[in-house]
Amino acid sequence: MDNTIAVLGAQWGDEGKGAVVAHYCKDADICVRAQGGNNAGHTLYTDEGKKIVVNIAPSGIIFPHVTNVIGNGCVVDLEVLANNIEGLDPKLLISDSAHLIFPYHAQLDIARERSRNGGGIGTTGKGIGPAYADKINRVGIRAGLLKHPQRLEQRLREVVEEKNKELPVLCQKNPINIDNLLDSYRPLFERFAPCVADTAEYLHDAGKKGKKIVFEGAQGALLDIDQGTYPHVTSSNTTIGGILTGTGLGLRAIGKVLGVAKAYTSRVGEGIFPTEGEPYADIRSLTRETAGLTDHERGIVQTGNGYNSDYKYFQLVSRYIREVGDEFGSTTGRPRRVGWLDLAVLRKAVRVNGLDYLALTRLDCLDGIGWIYVCDRYGDKERREYFSEFPNNEEDLQNFRPDYSTLGRYRGWESTKSIRNFRDLPKEARHYIELIQDRVGVKVALIKNGCQPHDYIEVEYVFPSRSMTGGVKFL
Ligand code: IMP
Repeated sequence: MDNTIAVLGAQWGDEGKGAVVAHYCKDADICVRAQGGNNAGHTLYTDEGKKIVVNIAPSGIIFPHVTNVIGNGCVVDLEVLANNIEGLDPKLLISDSAHLIFPYHAQLDIARERSRNGGGIGTTGKGIGPAYADKINRVGIRAGLLKHPQRLEQRLREVVEEKNKELPVLCQKNPINIDNLLDSYRPLFERFAPCVADTAEYLHDAGKKGKKIVFEGAQGALLDIDQGTYPHVTSSNTTIGGILTGTGLGLRAIGKVLGVAKAYTSRVGEGIFPTEGEPYADIRSLTRETAGLTDHERGIVQTGNGYNSDYKYFQLVSRYIREVGDEFGSTTGRPRRVGWLDLAVLRKAVRVNGLDYLALTRLDCLDGIGWIYVCDRYGDKERREYFSEFPNNEEDLQNFRPDYSTLGRYRGWESTKSIRNFRDLPKEARHYIELIQDRVGVKVALIKNGCQPHDYIEVEYVFPSRSMTGGVKFL
């Protein structure tokens, strides 16, 4: 289908998918979320420059012409959804098969993290894992019940009775008072009941009519429950299969598949991160106020001189990027872990998603850095063994470190800001992008070099198709 595109995270989430989705939504009719919940934080800027962070609402909500669909693969916190769309009045549909998140999910999420005693996942604490667990255990509550209020209340009473057996033990919290819960949720139930629909049928029909659809992924390939760095992953399929099962559409409903990657790498939460520039323990408690570099340290990063080891340099660069890129979680405010670009990660994302293209975001955050390093493979300490594909088990990487020697280090570039054509980029930045394409085997179609909607370079026009013929393949 020429007129649909799936936009998926190619690293550990936070790649800047929201801005890329918004870019393609300018010309789209429909924007669809297929998995995840309000663990996501997609940052958007309106044409007037206003910043909006959405968590469960699809990123198309900033465009009045776009119909926004929350697919059956999502877990939906109605309270967060109401906050996300406040003052916007978007066209919104919620799948009747999407599962609802209630406060007990978040309480259980937080309690389980605590009880893991340092060995936690570092979840967002939004109840995502417990909500998906209820779905798999077949005790979840689906949005379709919003259309049957009495049955919904009855189900909620039954479920809360069960949860009240677990909650006081796990969370040392008082049991939930179901009447209070129902009182606070009734207005939300009434408000969103008219949005509930068979969205699979809606999308299927829309496809047949040739509507232009953007499928919006959440999180990233390495956080996929099956393909990611298990157990430090989220609880849904963030890769292409999640788009199919999470919308109820078939394979041919998806035209192009585009992966979004930052020009470097970042991660929040626990888990392996081979190119990380500094120990996670050192940054956990950082805040925006305490994270800054001194002028001397900034000078080292910019000139690429004056450091006594690669390790020290990497550490300073990570902190520099965190500062210029404001690398703090948009959902939790946690400082993000930062490191060099890892091409093995991108190759895995290409493989598990069948990516056609990449969008490279935050290129401007590397502006002004003296030396740039890129990881293309991992090697052991004795340099006797190397491998260049990201393994499935974290343990397989334990004795390996990124090997930066194959591609060497690159002279950085001064500035990419305000540039709108690939050929106008500094030659070092062009080489960097060509190197990525070459080593990953996928063309970079879009580059983001700033956070405003006009800050981009369209290297190749991929959506919507300029020769649209309608939705034949949906039939
Ligand atoms: P959960 O999805 O809240 O269960 O968290 C599981 C892991 O996924 C944690 O490491 C989170 O930090 C990470 N995670 C979940 N959602 C996002 C996201 O949207 N961006 C980046 N990391 C995420």
